Amino acid sequence: MDFKVADLALADFGRKEIQLAEHEMPGLMAIRREYASARPLSGAKIMGSLHMTIQTAVLIETLVELGADVRWVSCNIFSTQDHAAAAVVVGPQGTVEDPKGVPVFAWKGETLEEYWWCTDQALAWPGGGGPNMILDDGGDATLLVHKGAEYEKAGVVPSASEGDSEEWKIILDLLHRTVTSENRWTQVAEGIRGVTEETTTGVHRLYEMFKSGTLLFPAINVNDSVTKSKFDNKYGCRHSVIDGLNRATDVLIGGKVAVVCGYGDVGKGCADALRGQGARVIVTEIDPICALQAAMDGFQVTTLDEVVGIADIFVTTTGNYDIITADDMGRMKHQAIVSNIGHFDNEIDMAGLAKVPGVVKTEIKPQVHTWTFPDGHSILVLAEGRLMNLGCATGHPSFVMSNSFTNQVIAQIELFTKTEEYPIGVYTLPKHLDEKVARLHLDALGVKLTKLSKAQAEYIGVDVEGPYKPDHYRY
Ligand code: NAI
Repeated sequence: MDFKVADLALADFGRKEIQLAEHEMPGLMAIRREYASARPLSGAKIMGSLHMTIQTAVLIETLVELGADVRWVSCNIFSTQDHAAAAVVVGPQGTVEDPKGVPVFAWKGETLEEYWWCTDQALAWPGGGGPNMILDDGGDATLLVHKGAEYEKAGVVPSASEGDSEEWKIILDLLHRTVTSENRWTQVAEGIRGVTEETTTGVHRLYEMFKSGTLLFPAINVNDSVTKSKFDNKYGCRHSVIDGLNRATDVLIGGKVAVVCGYGDVGKGCADALRGQGARVIVTEIDPICALQAAMDGFQVTTLDEVVGIADIFVTTTGNYDIITADDMGRMKHQAIVSNIGHFDNEIDMAGLAKVPGVVKTEIKPQVHTWTFPDGHSILVLAEGRLMNLGCATGHPSFVMSNSFTNQVIAQIELFTKTEEYPIGVYTLPKHLDEKVARLHLDALGVKLTKLSKAQAEYIGVDVEGPYKPDHYRY
């Protein structure tokens, strides 16, 4: 088996944590039981690009139990948990000497070159060809396949220009080496039945591609299942934003001024958590609806410019870019903490920060750095501006990820087994499946659901068995 992880000897520790996680992931375990004999993913060759954590290990092994052949990478250079990666490679039946699990190409602290090398490896099936399904988080695997196919069609890969980001130069370099006259990427794209996408930022990319007519295969937007974005993005971040801050800095949050940029699902979770720790939380927003929500939830809403000099903790949650600029960081208090929990690292202008004349970067420990300005004040940047909950901590806990990943598995089954029902486009799962995911998580929390009477169901115009809300309902 081909794979590349940090240290296979960590597999035993990983396996023990996977076993603990399985108990906390009732949705995934119920899906394993439901499909144990049908094995609907038999014949599926799934390439996954999603943070290689313990929770993801339970997802991967669920896909395998349902019959899939899987290859995996992390979707972030800092988010891999090395013991999880090792345990997945070894597999439940294998040993360190004789691994029998899934090929994983991921370790914590990859360089960007290594990151894209890993993605390329996981997209290449042993014996030739590529996957027939992608499970993506942020859209990097989907992007590589699309760009490869686009440049093969054009017959040329563009040269990098000076204004390009370092990462884009690396991608172009990879494509220069892998775009072939045999049309490798075109064939990979043609073999793919569909992609299921995990996060807001990746979904945004998919809708853009569909709008511009460049999307090459159908996609299921897993993020916008209610049981994903209204749970993982909100309650998951409510947990892991504090975990990231604590493990990175252990600074007391109570009494501090914290600025949360963006009040979408992630921002709502982060602001709530920081307030729960006793911080005075200030929100920035561009959308009047979200700004009004933040105000009614009791937060001060103002511009970053107004408060950049008085806040102690900054968390960006927008999925947008240049939210905190180098100039902003130059105006911050000494030892202000600057962090991002959105998908990509361009929310904080790290490239601009590195170019400030005389600025000095000092590593406190991996993924925690001070940047000292010529005037002597310094700021603390977490995870080099990448998502801090996965860079400095271990991401969301198992129970909430069970909701997200149950949606992922259902979406994979849906696209793989009913391919002809999904012409190229971007879809969300039907509401009855969303309700099913929620239902699978109720018992574990001791929730007792009230049952509608037939008369009540008729009165509000729904079926006794659901779905209980129209598609336009917003929760
Ligand atoms: P969302 O679209 O619900 O929220 C983003 C909010 O930011 C919106 O309300 C938008 O109006 C606001 N915004 C945009 N530009 C802004 C600006 N210049 N200043 C202030 N506010 C601005 O998106 P969601 O679901 O909250 O996701 C946000 C990001 O977090 C995405 O990149 C997503 O992929 C990522 N994500 C990260 C997770 C993690 O574990 N780290 C988990 C889930 C999502």
